[in-house]
Amino acid sequence: MCAITILPVCLLFVVIIYTDIGSTDALITCEAGTFVEGKPASISCKFRTNITASKRSINMALYPPDETKGAIGKDILLCRWSEEKTEHQCFLEESNYMFDNTLTDRLTVRIPAVSSGQAGLYMCFFVPPEGTDAYPCELIVDSGKPKVNQNFLLIIVLCVVGVVAVVCCVALFVVIRKRRNKSGHSDESSQPMLPVVNRRKLEEFLEDFQLDMQTLRKLMKLMKQEISKGLDEATSTEAVTKAFPPFVSHLPNGTENGEFLVLDFDGDHLKAVHVKLQDRRVSVMESERYTFSSDSKTGEAKNKLFYFIADCTNQFVKGFDLSEKTLHTALIVAFPCKYDGPQTVRLVKWTKEINHQGVVGEDLHSLLREALTERRKEKWATPHKFDNLGKLEVVSVVNDAAGTFMSVADKVPNCKIGLIVGNGLNACYVKDLTHVETDSPDDDKQHEIIVNTELGALGENGCLDFCRTAYDKLLDEQSNFHESQVLEKMVGGRYIGELVRLVLEGLTREGLLFRSVPSRDALFKRDSFSTELVLKVENDTEEPYKQTADTLNGLGVKHFSQEDLQTVRHVCKAVCERAAFLTATSLATLIKRIKQPEVIVVVDGYLYRRHPRFHDLMYSKTLELVKPELKFYLVSPRYERSIGAARIVAASLRSRDPQTANA
Ligand code: GLC
Repeated sequence: MCAITILPVCLLFVVIIYTDIGSTDALITCEAGTFVEGKPASISCKFRTNITASKRSINMALYPPDETKGAIGKDILLCRWSEEKTEHQCFLEESNYMFDNTLTDRLTVRIPAVSSGQAGLYMCFFVPPEGTDAYPCELIVDSGKPKVNQNFLLIIVLCVVGVVAVVCCVALFVVIRKRRNKSGHSDESSQPMLPVVNRRKLEEFLEDFQLDMQTLRKLMKLMKQEISKGLDEATSTEAVTKAFPPFVSHLPNGTENGEFLVLDFDGDHLKAVHVKLQDRRVSVMESERYTFSSDSKTGEAKNKLFYFIADCTNQFVKGFDLSEKTLHTALIVAFPCKYDGPQTVRLVKWTKEINHQGVVGEDLHSLLREALTERRKEKWATPHKFDNLGKLEVVSVVNDAAGTFMSVADKVPNCKIGLIVGNGLNACYVKDLTHVETDSPDDDKQHEIIVNTELGALGENGCLDFCRTAYDKLLDEQSNFHESQVLEKMVGGRYIGELVRLVLEGLTREGLLFRSVPSRDALFKRDSFSTELVLKVENDTEEPYKQTADTLNGLGVKHFSQEDLQTVRHVCKAVCERAAFLTATSLATLIKRIKQPEVIVVVDGYLYRRHPRFHDLMYSKTLELVKPELKFYLVSPRYERSIGAARIVAASLRSRDPQTANA
């Protein structure tokens, strides 16, 4: 099996080392290379335009390799011109880099002693960004041990050995599979302890969770059709994925300044964040999380919900002494919204089992404003109680996928897709409007909009039925919303735990799990197996699988065998793997739709971040599905989505009044 991993690794080396990422036609191209750890290194960006004449601001940023999660899109160097445009000043944002403030037709950043943390893609780009004219270069850090880069022959030999080994392995694999007459799981080594007979039964049981390439390609076709339907005005009303364009008349361009309040509501919690944007630097000044009590979820929920938001806001503003500040405010909602105008944003429906009565179809903008106004009036009845809401102005309501995307997008050219894999699944992408007429004045015409695809809804018209399992259908029957958010129910963290539990219940009833246990029905309780527990099991990779055992103990399953532990692990793996592959299919569909040679994708959400293999599974499957024409890079936002929402507010203000945006 190890040979199977050798070939892609070899090929990856060859691709990384010998592929020219840059393009000679680009306005800015970078050069780096391979450097030995601890030795000096340099990154140089060359401009095909006269930089001292055009006096444009420039950023250099580092994008760690795509297999790295987390700290991505790090600013390394910011160069700005003085207001009179007579001189420039450059600031290094990271230590361990050196720059001598020389900006000619190129700039060169030096590293006195390079470390592995400095490896990755470096890119210089103009601020504000200008389309797709910047190309990155790769800095590779050689640990000094295996001299892979210096010995191309060695790679070739390795690859040849790899190919031979792969052919042998594949042949062996096919023979074994044929003999077992069953399609099985790819990672055999993960369940060595299951007796053959039980393993075969388990594989049969989970067979429907396996999606082969043919099925994924079929899915891609369907997704493409559905997204196109949503975008086409003639068909959008009956389309399942609605593709809502947010009413943002101007996209942020990175020059926005000011202080903002962002209220981020996910259905159960409200996070209030005070954000400051200044000279391209962003700071989260303060933040606080509040929980919406569950007894408020019915009846007069509309008022209760928005009074709750107003009260938390009041508490936040008071607690952090912000009442004297004029704070332009954004409300982030993790739910589908339809924009009927800049000030009218209607909730289309609740998702992820959240169901606060009386809000669907209502304008969230007005509900929040009214709640704030009502609370302000009450101030007279209870002096000083609501003193702190006076200077807030609600400017924008933003979907969470758009907020996530905008937390990165204005800094990175070619950044075209935002993807969320958290409790829910959603994606937004940038649609080119170059050929579309807009109402904006010509000199400030908007060329792109962000489209919220509401991808999680896919399948509501039955188009995914061919690949749903009996457990997906069971899960749907229990749901508050039947046949709604079908794809999301197969992927989202809100559902993965319950899906695993339903399979475990099925296995127990079939006598394939917890055979000798009196308390075997401990898992028969709805929602008792949370996605947190699935993550715990998936992160528990070493025998004797103590975390998995603790999980079962915690659920009241007191007696279980080592084989039971293996079975539980196998189920978690199958359900999560399918979720990653379905997400990859959605992503590949969007990448193909955008059809640019190189696309940067912003990905966030706790399932993606915290699952140990989600990123790798999703990345490699996407690669298989879009290969070989299109390149894509996955980046995780360094900043939270509140920053993106603050930028959207600032950009809206700019469209209203160019002076206010930079207040
Ligand atoms: C759900 C919502 C969507 C949101 C996503 C991620 O799918 O419908 O609007 O972006 O969850 O939170």
